[in-house]
Amino acid sequence: MSEHTPTGATPQEPSGSEPVRLDQGHVQGSGGIPERFSNPGLPPHVLRNADRDEKAAKRAERQVAALFTLSILGTLLFVVSYFIVDVDDTVWVPFTNEMSLANLLLGLGLAFSLLGIGLGAVHWAKTLMPDTEVVEMRHPMRSADADRQAFVETMLDGAESSQLTRRPLLKATFAGAMGLFALPLVVQLVGSLGPLPKNDLSVTFWNGEKGEDGTYTPKKLRLHKDPEDTPIKPGDVTIGSVFHIQPEGLLERPDFLDEMSKASVLLMRLNPEDFQDTDKGRKAREWGYQGIVAYSKVCTHVGCPVGLYEQTTHHLLCPCHQSTFDVTNDCEVIFGPAGHPLPQLKITVDSEGYLIADQPFQEPVGPSFWERG
Ligand code: FES
Repeated sequence: MSEHTPTGATPQEPSGSEPVRLDQGHVQGSGGIPERFSNPGLPPHVLRNADRDEKAAKRAERQVAALFTLSILGTLLFVVSYFIVDVDDTVWVPFTNEMSLANLLLGLGLAFSLLGIGLGAVHWAKTLMPDTEVVEMRHPMRSADADRQAFVETMLDGAESSQLTRRPLLKATFAGAMGLFALPLVVQLVGSLGPLPKNDLSVTFWNGEKGEDGTYTPKKLRLHKDPEDTPIKPGDVTIGSVFHIQPEGLLERPDFLDEMSKASVLLMRLNPEDFQDTDKGRKAREWGYQGIVAYSKVCTHVGCPVGLYEQTTHHLLCPCHQSTFDVTNDCEVIFGPAGHPLPQLKITVDSEGYLIADQPFQEPVGPSFWERG
């Protein structure tokens, strides 16, 4: 059977040094490609100034040390600027305009820190480190013990020939530059973390006022409609409706946005028969009032607001990653990545018939990791 090219033409057997066409599929033959390339070998090694002259080597050492010192100074500039320069101070910079002094100094510090290490390492390699080409032949993956031992010796020889051990100035400045290089990262990480959250994440505005001794005085706050900030009565909540709720008094606080992100609640009314006949379903109904139930609006996955309520299925949906909570079974997770049900707020009515919280949330709201706060 004859071999055919994709275009149906019979391939030609290439000969001699004729070029092989690469659009004819599989082609056998020697074509114009030689069987072997001759080894061009390595160019002769040329000694550098520092290899021939100890004075030149000393000069190169000082230059490398100066570059590592530049890196150290850059790192120190970064750290000092981070702590002592006011973030509101500005400075005029030619060709740009007014800019933040702190940003300028932090940027320059980090730039010199990195530049000094980079230039120092390159200059060191080009002037002092061995520059002879070394060829290593292929060998089995697992080296013989003798080879492994030889490798260790080669590494030790390399350390010796890089002159680190013989040149303490180089060693000290290199160690200083590399050691301090990580400092800006650590300083930013530690300095910008802020105070520990303690129990801030497991306590919400529903817990009442915090006393001087750090404990909370329980207060049965009214449920206020958001954004009207008006109280709500059971009669306002018809079956199938859903209300966004904030605790009474929250919107008057200057830090209300922080508190709102934890205390927001969704209020829904179900037919009392719609709750499942399970322990969770019964608890959900008992913690509600005449079929009205209140659940945290903060998704237990990563904290998005749970904003969709399907009144026919009584499912709450989080739009971020589609976690779905079954209101008839105490907001159990029935789909999606959330790890916990939404916490329920136990409600009742006060003497004037307004809906109030009977007790604060009994478990931390929001993502599961907050529980460890
Ligand atoms: S934040 Fe709600 S599902 Fe991810």
